[in-house]
Amino acid sequence: MKHNLKKTCLTASLAFSTLLGFQQVNAQEYNVQVDTKKVGSPIQKTMYGIFFEDINFGADGGLYAELVKNRSFEFDHNLVGWLPFGNVKVMNSNPCFDKNPNYVQISYDKELTGSGLENEGFAKGMGIKADETYKFSVYARCADAPVKLKVQLVNSHSDILASTEVEFSGKEWKKYSVELKSRSTDAHSKLRLTLVNKGVVDLDHISLFPSKTFKGRENGMREDLAQALADLHPGIFRFPGGCIVEGTNLATRYQWKNTIGAVENRPTNINRWNYTFGDKKYFDYYQSYGLGFYEYFQLSEDIGAEPLPVLSCGLSCQFENHDPNENCAVDKLQPFIQDALDLIEFANGPSTSKWGKVRTDMGHPAPFNLKFIAIGNEQWGPLYPERLEPFLKAIRAKYPNINVIGTAGPSPDGKDFEFGWKEMKRLKSDLVDEHYYKDPQWFLSNAKRYDNYDRKAPKVFAGEYACHPKSKKNDFEGALCESAFMTGFERNADVVKMCTYAPLFAHVDAWQWRPDLIWFDNLKSVKSVNYYVQQLYGMNVGTNVLTTTYNNGPLAGQDGLYASTALDKNKMEIIVKIANTSKEVRKVKFTLNGLKAAERKGTHTILTSDNIDAENTLDKPNTVVPATKEISVSGNALQVELAPQSFNLYTIKL
Ligand code: AHR
Repeated sequence: MKHNLKKTCLTASLAFSTLLGFQQVNAQEYNVQVDTKKVGSPIQKTMYGIFFEDINFGADGGLYAELVKNRSFEFDHNLVGWLPFGNVKVMNSNPCFDKNPNYVQISYDKELTGSGLENEGFAKGMGIKADETYKFSVYARCADAPVKLKVQLVNSHSDILASTEVEFSGKEWKKYSVELKSRSTDAHSKLRLTLVNKGVVDLDHISLFPSKTFKGRENGMREDLAQALADLHPGIFRFPGGCIVEGTNLATRYQWKNTIGAVENRPTNINRWNYTFGDKKYFDYYQSYGLGFYEYFQLSEDIGAEPLPVLSCGLSCQFENHDPNENCAVDKLQPFIQDALDLIEFANGPSTSKWGKVRTDMGHPAPFNLKFIAIGNEQWGPLYPERLEPFLKAIRAKYPNINVIGTAGPSPDGKDFEFGWKEMKRLKSDLVDEHYYKDPQWFLSNAKRYDNYDRKAPKVFAGEYACHPKSKKNDFEGALCESAFMTGFERNADVVKMCTYAPLFAHVDAWQWRPDLIWFDNLKSVKSVNYYVQQLYGMNVGTNVLTTTYNNGPLAGQDGLYASTALDKNKMEIIVKIANTSKEVRKVKFTLNGLKAAERKGTHTILTSDNIDAENTLDKPNTVVPATKEISVSGNALQVELAPQSFNLYTIKL
């Protein structure tokens, strides 16, 4: 059925009148010119991406599907997460895994209580679902005769959800696995292990995984969370941080080589978000590295994004650590530089190379095709460029095609930022990572931020950004401001090559930082309004910028309007993105210069709310979600009436 555009818009504005009460329509029509003939700068496929950091229990207890906390007994207090009963001892003689040497020994000499232990899972329990199967596995050895262990899933009311037994024999460490099917759902379950008969047994690396993981991968990701990432259509995937790359000191920094190989032997590390904020301390926050660099590369591939690892440049977190001895001296950086070179070989080297073989042995003979690497997270001052320089030299010499990303520090302006940029220009890093967590007004008034950037300088990677409204929540106001600001990314696609919102995940019962893109509990997840903005951009990247002007300049804030237009040469369509941050309906006419007048099919997607504080929650996940309808465009102009406080995306088929 053909739609008359005018009619569609009328119907749309009538609908808003009913929804929001009477809306004032400003009589002015904003005439925007789009040059469809002159195809502008290419927009990189990497333009809109994701940034993952293990903060807010994003990895262990979040994306990484393992349900057991402290499975290797390596937290500083070995039994954190475990409730032992009867006769249980922590031991480390003749361990199963040299890098995670602790294990428990259970002896049956408590007839009354029995002997065993319970694991509480992450953030108040394990999310266990009815009719789902769970894989329990453990490494065990017996002192003498074989022993049996009862394995049970127990819900928060102490009801048994599933129960089975596993028998161990022999004095050598062996892996045992068994499956359990739960009869009901509970977000706060636990795993109970009880010795059944007389004997002594050593247990290590006690693990429980849902059988269903994202793409069915062993040691895989929680399905709903990984799927939410894939649904963003990310072009780039930055990992593993953030501040955890630096660690509070050099000893606790993220070392990628500790995160590959057998999961059982990846040495546990404290998570620096464990103790960072006085009012948000989580003393049970550690990194098992079950989600390590191999899994990050694999996940990049699974969600169709280019991997972008970040490595330590030899500086401890500059916010947390002011001890100069906690920074690696410039003349001692070689092991750090070697780590970077080895990582490139791990990702891209042939199976015959040392690190390419490690990747192959882990199950991925084909290269991961790494193109980007970031050295340092958000460092500032002279300590950084003097360290980046030798990294750059070594990487350029061995891998001239790898794009090296430097940083301009934690702020989007000021002395350190200026200094950082000056140094990145001198060192000729390929891209410069900028970070900004700012209020709504900043986002709106910075929509033209990149219009006057030096076109010959290194390119921009907006590696961490998020609008922080007063509420510090993922409310509609922040999302709307981000949608407006992002038109400036697109308009300046010759300068901005990629951008990633931050942080990505947060557990509702164990977060340290907000806003965040995706919230979850032990069973469910919810996409924030900000998520939908990212998704609309990620699904409608386009291939080239089309020059879009209002009164001969960009439409970037006049009366609350922010617009950009892209061409998608592959889909043969024009994509118009426009935010109306005002409280009034705005009439806008986009004249598509150079386009033959015709009747064309298209779509209109709107993200709007009359309540600027509205947010999506686990209980009300659809409070603000995009709505799409078909439209038709006649002539060579797109005439629209934009709802107040709305982000709008139009596609027009060519
Ligand atoms: O995204 C949260 C933190 O913000 C990151 O770890 C750090 O890079 C920045 O300060």
